[in-house]
Amino acid sequence: MADKHLVRFEPVGIDIEVREDQTILRAAFEQGVMLMHGCKEGQCSACKSFVLDGEDIELDRYSTFALPDFEKEEGFTLLCRAHAYEDLTIELLNYDEEIIRSGLPIQDAKAEVVSIDAVTHDMRHVVLRLTEPTEVKFFPGQYMDIAIPGSEATRSFSMANISSRADGRLEFIIKCYPDGAFSTFLDGQLEAGDTLELTGPYGVFTLRESSDNDLLFIGGGAGMAPILSLLRALADRKLDRTATFYYGARTRKDLCFTDELAALEKSLPGFRYIPALSASEDEDWEGEVGFITDIVKASGTDFAKTDVYVCGPPPMVEAALDMLPGLGVAEKHIYYDKFTTTGDNASD
Ligand SMILES: Cc1cc2nc3c(=O)[nH]c(=O)nc-3n(C[C@H](O)[C@H](O)[C@H](O)COP(=O)(O)OP(=O)(O)OC[C@H]3O[C@@H](n4cnc5c(N)ncnc54)[C@H](O)[C@@H]3O)c2cc1C
Ligand code: FES
Repeated sequence: MADKHLVRFEPVGIDIEVREDQTILRAAFEQGVMLMHGCKEGQCSACKSFVLDGEDIELDRYSTFALPDFEKEEGFTLLCRAHAYEDLTIELLNYDEEIIRSGLPIQDAKAEVVSIDAVTHDMRHVVLRLTEPTEVKFFPGQYMDIAIPGSEATRSFSMANISSRADGRLEFIIKCYPDGAFSTFLDGQLEAGDTLELTGPYGVFTLRESSDNDLLFIGGGAGMAPILSLLRALADRKLDRTATFYYGARTRKDLCFTDELAALEKSLPGFRYIPALSASEDEDWEGEVGFITDIVKASGTDFAKTDVYVCGPPPMVEAALDMLPGLGVAEKHIYYDKFTTTGDNASD
């Protein structure tokens, strides 16, 4: 059994035990401490923190874009890559009081594929049923890491449903990319009845329920999955908040869950769904046309009292993050999941 050390997080005053063979982030997740994170692979810098006390730390492979050498020299570290070899005190640079202590411990699970249905030409609605254990607790908006059988690799996928309590089900919306490792496996091999291994839940793209601000959701591609989960949760809990979902797609054939979103407009009186097509030559399309961020901007809405949830491909998320402060949204009210890919990131 590997040696363990005590890691204290400031300014929140939370202590965890960390084994030398696991990263500090992983140990925190196992103990239900939901620290800020993104890629979990040393690429995105979301978990960057400052070492206040202690120096015996070793980092797994990471990108110097996420942690440049001069920052490492100054005492910054990446918790998703850091192994502690002595007791440490870490200052969290980025944390959310409402989320950090509400974390559910991650667990390993197995699930059987119930169904795989095409919801667009390149998006699949995948339903799994947990077999071991038969329930994984998660918050709407969170994700699981699914292992690609026969390899060490995993890919992250956000749940589109709100709970596995009643039926052990996890629902995903997965976009297939040409030559992507998981995509090829999903479209070429995976069938109903097959077993998948998963770990989770991860993620902080969850509803801040203590707020009564209006809600703005901006999504693209498979970013539909966690946003649908959040909208389903609003409906399930009968939360009466004004909410607008701007969804960007290229053409009409990239739209999905349209009937359910229309039904949500009826069950949630304050909810509106606004799809926009960026590459449509469809003359019958009467909806918005253009990039989704431009459509949000052109709406002329005052977003000063709004919580914004952004999710989808990295370029769309970055464009939204650049734009939102200019529309009056406070940075602390912006929550996002960037669907970064694993295949094309070079690491040091
Ligand atoms: C927190 C989080 C949650 C996520 N949730 C979801 C989800 O709910 N649904 C979902 O579909 N995906 C989600 N993703 C992305 C997912 O984890 C995979 O990265 C994605 O499905 C590609 O996996 P792959 O193995 O098929 O491709 P990889 O083998 O990782 O990629 C190989 C190649 O495919 C191409 N490719 C892959 N992705 C893209 C892209 N976005 N744009 C252009 N080319 C690309 C590139 O050429 C890349 O080099 C999430 C990612 C994160 C970080
Ligand atoms: S979560 Fe650590 S660098 Fe992305």
